[in-house]
Amino acid sequence: MGEMKIFSGNANRRLAEDICRQLGVDVGKAVVTTFKNGETRVKIEEHVRGTDVFVIQPTSAPSDHHIMELLIMIDALRRASADRITAVVPYYAYAKQEKKTSGREPISAKLVANLIVTAGADRVVAMDLHAPAIQGFFDIPVDNLTAVPILAKHLDDRADGNVVVVSPDSGGVSRAEAFRYRVGAGLAIIAKQRPEPDEVEVLEMVGDVEGKIAVIVDDMISTGGTLIEAADLLAARGARSVFAYAVHAVLTDDAPGRIHNSSLERVVVTNTVPIPRECMDEKIEVIDVAWLIAQAIRRIHEGSSVSALFQAAPFPRQETLI
Ligand code: R5P
Repeated sequence: MGEMKIFSGNANRRLAEDICRQLGVDVGKAVVTTFKNGETRVKIEEHVRGTDVFVIQPTSAPSDHHIMELLIMIDALRRASADRITAVVPYYAYAKQEKKTSGREPISAKLVANLIVTAGADRVVAMDLHAPAIQGFFDIPVDNLTAVPILAKHLDDRADGNVVVVSPDSGGVSRAEAFRYRVGAGLAIIAKQRPEPDEVEVLEMVGDVEGKIAVIVDDMISTGGTLIEAADLLAARGARSVFAYAVHAVLTDDAPGRIHNSSLERVVVTNTVPIPRECMDEKIEVIDVAWLIAQAIRRIHEGSSVSALFQAAPFPRQETLI
């Protein structure tokens, strides 16, 4: 592979800068803006012919706009003869629409995958995809990184050993299982349903949390409904305190206030998605994943194993940003 170059869209410029700092390179020069009519305008402002390019762009809100930025950047890089283009998408939007649950619905996660491949990406780096099977929506290599070791390390440095890790729904069991393996805790599983989109109803729980520290592990927080309903159930079942760890803080407007007024003691998230200042709350803590993504990029560039990164023990402690 030729020289490594890293470019960023506008979704999480700060994360891209932190990743570049870890790698000792500058963010590539590019104009990523909008024309007056609202269409995305991209101009790559440095030579990329024969280079190994990484485009960092979580598809966080406004997701449609950030997806278009990513696609148009990839197109520009391909037409400028970059040797290999890797789309680094730490948060992959539309992932919850990864299957039809009733007639006449789209599979939007597959459509987004098709768009990224058609634009010209040669490989994808994601993090904690909502459904790991989304990797199969791409006919190019996908590295689905996980922040679980970083989050588990954060808990491990603080917990007193009386912890039960809780999956707030059946889809999150393998993530909770991986987390509890790292911290040596018990496991509980909640059954939830969504009577309407963005509404949550918890049905039952398997496992014992009486007198224990309950730690909910999830891939993302959107409305906060899943965490709050789960926390209420855990408190009702006698948990001593309830904490939550989630990778993507896709916080909708009312989520921080709902978290603030909930029975959750603390909510730890990562910086895959930028968190606006007005969404920050004293209960929310943000952990840096730039190091992890930088390590993955370095290994991909050098042609070495990415999965070996996750076998490192002990996993290094990461900076708390806020
Ligand atoms: C499953 O639906 C996901 O893993 C999360 O639990 C969900 O996206 C969280 O959304 P909300 O915060 O709106 O309940």
